[in-house]
Amino acid sequence: MDSIIVRGNGELNGQIPIAGAKNACLTLMPATLLSEEPLTLTNAPRLSDIRTMTELLSSLGAEVSTLQDGKVLAMSSHNLDNHVADYDIVRKMRASNLVLGPMLARLGQAVVSLPGGCAIGTRPMDLHEKGLMALGAEIELKEGYLHAKVPGGLKGAVIDLDFPSVGATENIMMAATLAKGTTVLNNAAREPEIVDLATCLRSMDAQIDGDGTSRIEIQGVDRLHGATHPVVTDRIELGTYMLAPAICGGEVECLGGSISLVGSFCEKLDAAGIHVEETANGLKVARRGGRVKAVDVVTEPFPGFPTDLQAQMMALMCTAEGTSVLEEKIFENRFMHAPELMRMGANIEVHGGTATVHGVERLKGAPVMATDLRASVSLILAAMAAEGETIVNRVYHLDRGYERVEEKLGNLGAHIERVQS
Ligand code: EPU
Repeated sequence: MDSIIVRGNGELNGQIPIAGAKNACLTLMPATLLSEEPLTLTNAPRLSDIRTMTELLSSLGAEVSTLQDGKVLAMSSHNLDNHVADYDIVRKMRASNLVLGPMLARLGQAVVSLPGGCAIGTRPMDLHEKGLMALGAEIELKEGYLHAKVPGGLKGAVIDLDFPSVGATENIMMAATLAKGTTVLNNAAREPEIVDLATCLRSMDAQIDGDGTSRIEIQGVDRLHGATHPVVTDRIELGTYMLAPAICGGEVECLGGSISLVGSFCEKLDAAGIHVEETANGLKVARRGGRVKAVDVVTEPFPGFPTDLQAQMMALMCTAEGTSVLEEKIFENRFMHAPELMRMGANIEVHGGTATVHGVERLKGAPVMATDLRASVSLILAAMAAEGETIVNRVYHLDRGYERVEEKLGNLGAHIERVQS
C-alpha cells in the first residue's frame, strides 16, 4: 500500500492544471448505455474510480477504449449482453448505482447490487428507487440486489424529490430521456455535474430543459444518438488546489477554473482574507502576509458550500486566527479527518454534525491515516503547511479522485513524494 510523505516548506507558487470532473465523468460514462451509437468523452480525469466504472460498463457488454493517455474515453454500447451490476464492482464505488436508470431505459430491466454504506454515511438509494418507480419501474430488493423491470416501458411522470440528491437526479434524468411522454423533476439537484450531464444528453438528441434549476423537464424520445462531449472542470479539485496557497502562502493560478463553479466557496475564502481573481486562463489565488481569519461554514447542496470541500476547508481553519464552526449537513459522518488533523496539533471539537476549530499558530508533521477521498487530500494540504514531516497512509483513497497529485503539487514547490510501504 502506498503512502505519501510531505515535508512542510513554505510558500507555493506557479500554475496548476485542473482536470475534468470525476463526479461528472462517472455519470457521463453510464449515459453510453442509453444509445447503440458511440459516446466519446474528452477531458476525462485519470483516476481509479474511472477505471472502476470502465470495468463495470465492460462487464455489461459495453466497449470502453481509453485513448490519449486516459484523457479520452471512447465508448460503445451497441451490444449490451448483461444487465447485472455485480456486487464485487459496485461495492468498490457507490457511483456504480448510476447504471440503474440507463439500463432500465435501454433494456427494460436491471439488476444492480446495493452499494451499501461507506465511511462518510449510510447513503441509501430510496430516492433513486422512488423516482424510477414513479416512471413505471417495479423494483424489489433480493439478496442485496435491486431487481428492477418495466413491463410496460417507462412513462413520464411528475416526481417531487424529498431532497435534491445528485445521484437520484442523474439516474431519473437518464431514464426519463427514453420514457414515453414528459417527466418533470421537482426539487432536482442543481450541481454543475447535472448541467454537464444534461448538455451531453442533449448532444445525444435528448430533450431536456431547466437543468441548473430545481425543476427539470424531460420530453422522452424514441432513441438517443452518438456524441462527443468534453467533461466539465472538476470544481472540487479546483477548490482543493485553491486552498494550497491559502494554507501555505504564495500565489497559484488554477488553470481552467471559474468562479461560477465555486461561488460560495470563494465567498468564504474572501471572508478569510484570501485573494481570488479571475484570469484569462482560470483563477489566481494568493495569500499575502499573515494568518487567515476564521470563518464559519455550513455545507449545502449547490449553490451552497460543497460537502466535498469541507475537509479541505477544515485544514485551512486549523491555522486560522480565531474559532470557526463547520456544520456538515449532507453526510452524517464526514469528520473522520478531524482526529487525524488533531494528531498534527489541530484543536478541534466534534459534536454530531458540528466541528469547532480553534486556530493554532502552526501544525506539526505526524503519521496520519487517510479515511476517505476528501479526508486524504485535507491531510496533504495541512501537511504542506506543517512543521516537519507527515506520512499519509492509505493513499489509495486519494487516487480515486486526484490525478498525479504529487506531480501537480510538486510543480508548485511542495516537497511531496509517494513511497511504497
Ligand atoms: N440520500 C438519501 N437517499 C437517496 C440518495 C441520497 O437519503 O436515495 C442522501 C445521502 O445519504 C446523503 C445525501 O442524500 O446524505 C446526499 O446524497 P446525494 O445523492 O446528493 O449524493 P451522491 O449522488 O451519492 C454525489 C457525489 C459525492 C458528493 C455528493 C453531494 C458522485 C459520484 N458523488 O454523491 O461525491 O459528496 O454528490 O454533493 O457524484 C466525493 O466526490 O468525494 C463524493 C462523496
